[in-house]
Amino acid sequence: MTPLRIVFIASEATPFAKTGGLADVAGSLPNALRELNVDIRVILPGYRQVFEHGLRHERVFPSLNTLLGSQRLTFQVRKLLLENTAPIYVIDREDMFDRPHLYGNADGDYYDNAERFIFFCRAVVALMHSWDFAPQIIHCNDWHTGLIPAYMQSDPAFRQIKTLFTLHNLGYSGLFSSDKFALTGLDASHYQPNGLEFYGKWSMLKAGLVYSRAVSTVSPTYAREIQTPEYGKGLDGVLRSRQASVFGLLNGVNYQMWNPETDALIPARFTPDDLTGKRICKAALIRACQLDESLMERPVIGIVSRLDIQKGIDLIIPILSELIESLKVGVVILGTGDGEMQQSLQRAGEPYPGAFAFIQRFDEELARKILAGADMLLVPSRYEPCGLTQLYAMKYGTVPVVRATGGLNDTVSEVNERTGDGTGFAFKHADATDFLAAIQKAVSVYRMPPIWKRVQFNGMSMDFSWEKAAQSYLSLYQELMMDSSP
Ligand code: ADP
Ligand code: GLC
Repeated sequence: MTPLRIVFIASEATPFAKTGGLADVAGSLPNALRELNVDIRVILPGYRQVFEHGLRHERVFPSLNTLLGSQRLTFQVRKLLLENTAPIYVIDREDMFDRPHLYGNADGDYYDNAERFIFFCRAVVALMHSWDFAPQIIHCNDWHTGLIPAYMQSDPAFRQIKTLFTLHNLGYSGLFSSDKFALTGLDASHYQPNGLEFYGKWSMLKAGLVYSRAVSTVSPTYAREIQTPEYGKGLDGVLRSRQASVFGLLNGVNYQMWNPETDALIPARFTPDDLTGKRICKAALIRACQLDESLMERPVIGIVSRLDIQKGIDLIIPILSELIESLKVGVVILGTGDGEMQQSLQRAGEPYPGAFAFIQRFDEELARKILAGADMLLVPSRYEPCGLTQLYAMKYGTVPVVRATGGLNDTVSEVNERTGDGTGFAFKHADATDFLAAIQKAVSVYRMPPIWKRVQFNGMSMDFSWEKAAQSYLSLYQELMMDSSP
């Protein structure tokens, strides 16, 4: 069979540029699809971070151009020279992407993100017009790529191409004021509630949801939740109207990168049958975070997260004294984001030197050391499209305590304290009382070593590999190809 031809477009991808889980997905899924004989090519913005990797690249298009409003902007397309991976093309224009960060700095989003990502979408379309690669499906991800399905649909040259829009997070909608709409070059008829207009503004995410042939999101539970007012962020009506074309496909894990048996970035390696190395990782984490040595015999609880209201990390503040003084656990938090949340966490932890560590930065190596060295990982999200840290944690024998929402609900099964069946602990309501009860249950099971070991073993034996997840994307692509509706 001739391979399916796919273009996959995202605003970040591991290892080139990352702020969160989207990068992990965009860095792995295309390669897993390539293994399934899909001819897939990836397009990314040419951020400074991409070129900082010192990779060799070739200029495949030294000078293309596109309109942004009435201005004609030139750009280059470079292809990264990689081996045995899906080919990666970057849209390179210095004033748009050669910046210290991807989307903004400590003061907030870059003021011109509308311009930057409208330009990115328009540049991708200009590339499509010049490329000798003719994709059958264009697979877009999140709001940064949301205009592409709208352009594809309005351009006679691309009518045959099917578009899939994958929603990784409904909380980031790429919402801009009406005066920026003219930059898109789209006909004014799109600026209405059935198009991309959203309460007096317009949303790039909504464009992706409305104009793509199919919409997928990253877990079955989140696919259902976003069709309800509670989780729909005002877009649940749009999603319900597209119900038959909304799919929930669970993310995967790249076990070549996330595997305690081979991980060179952690202090010692370990397997489900021999956790000696995990104790070495725990000891190293305790030392690195200047926690009390006595925590070797008590639970160390980790958090690795963006500090955003989504993640519910603030729920730990009212229960911190209970955790540290009564349950005698240690707490390690690695995270950056919301300034106020950073300050409250900092303040809340001050009375507990030796039992609480808060590291405010983005640090991939430390993230891994926490995921490997902690006994438990907390993911108390208010909503969670999929969530990857709980999947990584399980592989490293670190037991997740999660809120039963989105992908957390689909990937963590409740522990039976008597038998040791299950992989983690879940709580229902996004409040401190429920959260504390789940942690209390986890700590009581931790105190029964044979049962705890069983739970660790169960988590480490789970298979969330991309090989499986990519197969469901392939089936969806095939279904799209068979769909002949206009
Ligand atoms: P989201 O994409 O919503 O942030 P995910 O759980 O899907 O949530 O993915 C988060 C990814 O970002 C994981 O790979 C996690 O390890 C990583 N991460 C989050 N915060 C940090 C941090 N401060 N330092 C390093 N890695 C982080
Ligand atoms: C988003 C979501 C997260 C998901 C990730 C990758 O950032 O918040 O739940 O795992 O995308 O799909």
